[in-house]
Amino acid sequence: MSPPYHIHHPDQILSPQLVVFRPLVRKNLETMIQIAGKPDRLRPHCKTHKMPAVAKMVEDLGVHKHKAATFAEVEMLAEVGARDIFLAYNMVGPSVQRAANCLKKYPGMKLSVTADDPTWIARLGEAMVDAGAEIGVVLDINPGRDRTGVPVGRSAEALYQQIAETSGLRPEGLHLYDGHQHQRDLAERVAAVEQEWQKVRMFVDGLKRRGFLIPRVICGGTPTFPVYARMDDPLIELSPGTCIFHDAGYNENFPDLDVFTPAALIFTRVVSRPTENRVTLDCGTKAVASDPPMGSRVVLPGIPDGKQVLQNEEHLVVETTEADQFRPGDWMLAIPRHVCPGTALYQEAVVIDDGDIVDRWPVVARDRYLTI
Ligand SMILES: Cc1ncc(COP(=O)(O)O)c(C=O)c1O
Repeated sequence: MSPPYHIHHPDQILSPQLVVFRPLVRKNLETMIQIAGKPDRLRPHCKTHKMPAVAKMVEDLGVHKHKAATFAEVEMLAEVGARDIFLAYNMVGPSVQRAANCLKKYPGMKLSVTADDPTWIARLGEAMVDAGAEIGVVLDINPGRDRTGVPVGRSAEALYQQIAETSGLRPEGLHLYDGHQHQRDLAERVAAVEQEWQKVRMFVDGLKRRGFLIPRVICGGTPTFPVYARMDDPLIELSPGTCIFHDAGYNENFPDLDVFTPAALIFTRVVSRPTENRVTLDCGTKAVASDPPMGSRVVLPGIPDGKQVLQNEEHLVVETTEADQFRPGDWMLAIPRHVCPGTALYQEAVVIDDGDIVDRWPVVARDRYLTI
């Protein structure tokens, strides 16, 4: 393949394999900072890469706030020196004790978590008091996605008050993840986000009038963070994740995100030519995320008219009028439609820079449990 995806020694790569193009990752990160205006406004989500090497790159670029979804991700971030980590997940069951253990293991770390339930807020406070620790709690607001959180209003206010008044807890503001804002047209997305933001901002003002501390509102994913970035509000922190690696799905659905380039691809080989018009690749459902619909889990620039007709665990069958151009053993790159769940399928990524294999990056936080 041509730049930026050329590889000098493909014979040295086993397949299927996650390959990361290092200069593209760096460029995507720099673009994120540029959109944010300054590194301090960003709190990137590490769930896309789950790799210490990328977390280190983020820190080295002056971005010192981080977002995570699991304790393994928190631990991975802490191990590279991150000291301000937001675990955007509600603590229930044994997670409450895990949070206390985490603070014990990394005493200099500022950890905060989300909450939206009075019983677990109380239990989290009790666990912190028992551990002699303090944890930040960010109230999870439901901006219409209906996945987690509470809508702005009376009960949200009561929950924030409970957080502020519970020993062991430190109120750290609001979390607003709006992954349902999928308007292709940027103007429509801006209008929808701004409408939601007005409600949140009024809610914040009300809490502030009552004397509550609201240090931040952590907003958005890749499609909406450029919208929040334009707003001149010091409360806003931006939390995109996917654009660090970017993928074909966001590329196709959001034309304004063409400033990002897919940087993590699947290196795959032709393993069979079972019929005249079929090419079979070793890019099955265990090689790439299968949450996009069948037929569209990867983009194959090497087979422009390819129709993905069958995908099993270790096989992807593609129909094409050009099948006779391919031989078993030929390699190509597949661009994942949804990159995030795919990285977790690999123990490590092969790292390419200027065509050369320069490193291997372990995907440390693919595991659910490290030590905490
Ligand atoms: C809570 C939360 N924040 C941020 C993100 C990042 O969004 P994106 O993948 O669009 O960058 C996600 C994505 O799933 C998320 O769940």
